Amino acid sequence: MKNVIQNLIEESQKFLFKRAKIDDKIGLEAAKFAVCDIPKLSGKFEKSNSPLIRWIKEAAKHGSPETKDLLNALEPALPYLPWKYNYEPREDMPDLGSQMGWGEILGPEAPYHDDHLCFGFTLLGKNTFYPSHLHPATELYVILSGHAIWTLDGHTQIRGPGEFILHPSEHVHSMQTEQEPMLALYTWSGKDVKTLSKYV
Ligand SMILES: [Fe+2]
Repeated sequence: MKNVIQNLIEESQKFLFKRAKIDDKIGLEAAKFAVCDIPKLSGKFEKSNSPLIRWIKEAAKHGSPETKDLLNALEPALPYLPWKYNYEPREDMPDLGSQMGWGEILGPEAPYHDDHLCFGFTLLGKNTFYPSHLHPATELYVILSGHAIWTLDGHTQIRGPGEFILHPSEHVHSMQTEQEPMLALYTWSGKDVKTLSKYV
């Protein structure tokens, strides 16, 4: 499994490095992970028993020519990512934790330990609403497979494979999937990558 994850990290860095050549805010954010030194592995990648596993086969099927290579590297790793969902429970949406979550590879609590940068993948099942939320970290998303109706600061757009989306610190965002699950790469950077995201 270590080789699968190492290959996934390399492909992700290659993917982000291409975008980092463009000198804009997204490029600067992409560069942070693209050129970072990966620490020694200090945790484990074990087969996940998350309810999200039921989505993974379909989740990787809706990519694009740009995301194909990275999806190929990601697919064998998907069952072994440390999938989690750790928001406060919501009475109005009690099943959210079985519909969406993220598997973090690098970060303060991830198998590759880093206190200043996070890198992982977010998965949303079909017809799933990830409600409005915010966090101190600056977040970069790249959609790899599937489409979602994406809202940032009240502005809504349909987003699909190959698109980069930047969420500045403390800016409110939400996503809604419809007929396809969505799989996206994310990074977190900034002064505080430890404070968890919260619903607003
Ligand atoms: Fe976020």
